[in-house]
Amino acid sequence: MVLIIFGPPGAGKGTQASMITKNYDMLHISTGDMLRAAVKEGAELGNLAKSYMDKGELVPDDVVIGVIREVIKNTNSVNGYLLDGFPRTIPQAEALDRMLNSESLKVDKVVSIEVPDGEIISRIGGRRVCEKCGVMYHKLYDPPKNADVCDKCGGSLYQRDDDREDVIRKRLEVYSRQTLPLKTYYRDASILREIDGLGTIDDVRRRISDSLNQRT
Ligand code: AP5
Repeated sequence: MVLIIFGPPGAGKGTQASMITKNYDMLHISTGDMLRAAVKEGAELGNLAKSYMDKGELVPDDVVIGVIREVIKNTNSVNGYLLDGFPRTIPQAEALDRMLNSESLKVDKVVSIEVPDGEIISRIGGRRVCEKCGVMYHKLYDPPKNADVCDKCGGSLYQRDDDREDVIRKRLEVYSRQTLPLKTYYRDASILREIDGLGTIDDVRRRISDSLNQRT
């Protein structure tokens, strides 16, 4: 199965994707995580990506498409792929269709997590990430046992550079302009599932799971 988890910044895509990939034993492909890893390594790709990410803009299509092409070509996940944060533009979606087609695959479902802007600002503002293992927390909604320390590995928690309020607002604007049109693209293909993203992490997980278990 090829599944796309879709939604605005901070909707909970990464949080839900981690749980889905565990349950369904799929490969989780997050372009955001891959780009942040490249930034951390100081790789050429990372330096280029950082200049866009810090401003809340999208990294150019050809760069991101190249990254995904390498992953799909070089991995063979028996139970499929869960794409998180990709595609984000119509050219990326079209390139993905071509890539999958050449592997005799297709996008099976697109789960869109619907969250209003006010809630997004509060979710992103409280997000903290472990610098060592990447596990995500929220200061209020999903706090670690000890402030600023990762429960899983003891690493320090930090706030992402693009989680400042001015950058969040820019990311929301970019989402409306460049990414939202994808909903029509996937609705026209009859594979879009819109999920209410309000409520606890577990409420949303249950709604997604119900939607994935439906045949149509
Ligand atoms: P990326 O990392 O993909 O960021 P994003 O899409 O903006 O999404 P986020 O990671 O901010 O949020 P999320 O939806 O995963 O929410 P999360 O689960 O963390 O991309 C970053 C940048 O990279 C982009 O701006 C762009 O520059 C570049 N990029 C990436 N992909 C690209 C592409 N394809 N093309 C071009 N450029 C690309 O949850 C957020 C917080 O809320 C957490 O603290 C969590 O604990 C909490 N939370 C989650 N669910 C709930 C809930 N139900 N209730 C309460 N709190 C919750």
